[in-house]
Amino acid sequence: MILIKKPVDTRPSEITPLPVYKKRREFIKTGLGLLATAGISPAVLATASAGYGGRKLDYSRMTEYSSKEELTDYKDITEYNNFYEFGTDKYSPAKRAKTLQTSPWSVKFSGHCEKPGSLQLEDILKPHALQERIYRLRCVEGWSMVIPWIGFPLADLLKRFQPTSQAKYVEFVTLKDAKQMPGQKSGVLDWPYVEGLRIDEAMNPLSLMAVGLYGEVLPNQNGAPLRLVVPWKYGFKSIKSIVEIRFVDKQPVSSWMRTAPSEYGFYSNVNPLVDHPRWSQKRERRIGEFFKIKTRMYNGYADEVAHLYSGMDLRKNF
Ligand code: MTE
Repeated sequence: MILIKKPVDTRPSEITPLPVYKKRREFIKTGLGLLATAGISPAVLATASAGYGGRKLDYSRMTEYSSKEELTDYKDITEYNNFYEFGTDKYSPAKRAKTLQTSPWSVKFSGHCEKPGSLQLEDILKPHALQERIYRLRCVEGWSMVIPWIGFPLADLLKRFQPTSQAKYVEFVTLKDAKQMPGQKSGVLDWPYVEGLRIDEAMNPLSLMAVGLYGEVLPNQNGAPLRLVVPWKYGFKSIKSIVEIRFVDKQPVSSWMRTAPSEYGFYSNVNPLVDHPRWSQKRERRIGEFFKIKTRMYNGYADEVAHLYSGMDLRKNF
């Protein structure tokens, strides 16, 4: 029998990497007994499947908001991506994102705050303890994944710069450098990629700054070294490879709003009741599974975020 300690009893250094966890569960399901009689112990299997080549991170497991659903395979999470800076098809980012230089990396914090300035990635991370959060990601195109992110609350980062009362929104900007990001030579989007949140959305405890997944630093194609994850919104709000965060008083215009304003609104909350103009949003296909499942309001996070939109017309504010 494999003993799994409760999260409160677990020191980060003792934590089993998630791929191992998942493999163990599959292992148990698919015939532990057979392999055991063949002389292969679970510990050996764990060692064999541990690690995907990235640098390991130290983190604690955050169970409060974490999904208990089956994790999407590491391969799908890291080889089926949307990152238009490396091409518009989903298999290009994994092949092409090696040209992105993620170190040194600095992020500029500007706009309506008491302490604007630029910080190196190390100084951004220093005060924050990393947590693992298993979130559903629902892409606007109709597929979804369950991803074990490693990161820390966006609110904790933003508070360090002391936003003023004029900071009604937060605008996020991706690196613009066509040498490192060859997809920027095409005019498919207005570069750099820009996204935005209302300040209360940004401060919601679910909003996460991610630096890793599956226990390791983010692969470039997933938005290294620092990306946003907003699990109740369509995936395109989760902007990758961030170089600037601005506190602003007006609603930012995101890259997708600029490109197709009738199709992509500012809020982009996952909502099965409001279809995309060209397709239904009622159902989704979990990558790795055959049958479609029902899409849930706010991607299943209604308890945590529905209050942010009370009284708003969600058809107008799509
Ligand atoms: N961020 C940037 N800078 N460029 C992009 O093209 N694509 C978005 C979002 N963040 C994108 C981006 C979309 S459409 C999705 S679905 C998610 O990233 C995908 O994240 P993943 O590849 O880690 O699953």
